[in-house]
Amino acid sequence: MTSTDTTNDNASPTPPAFHPVVRTGDIPVGEGRTFEVAGRLIAVFFDGTAYHAMDDLCPHMGASLGSGPFTDGCVTCPWHAWRFTVADGSWCDNPALKVDVFPTRLSGDMVEVQVPPAPRC
Ligand code: FES
Repeated sequence: MTSTDTTNDNASPTPPAFHPVVRTGDIPVGEGRTFEVAGRLIAVFFDGTAYHAMDDLCPHMGASLGSGPFTDGCVTCPWHAWRFTVADGSWCDNPALKVDVFPTRLSGDMVEVQVPPAPRC
């Protein structure tokens, strides 16, 4: 059997782009900030060694996680104190519940975050 179809069903999809988000040094150690990136609100935290990025919206009632206290690798939601691990987005009281986390990298003096486009409603 001969096929003239030249599409490659096994081709890898293009990975999401890295977006420049904030200059290194603009987030103090132990704090987070919220940014709009690719149509989503993303919280970026700096633990003194690395930057971590996660979905900014708390899955409980939508508070901004980027404004919550950040200690020992966990951010505490400012409204009702749910805590999330910034490394993998897991809820500290029930790791089965997670928020999205996103890869980060440094490019010169910029922190870049790899964020897929927001889903369309
Ligand atoms: S809105 Fe985050 S714990 Fe309630």
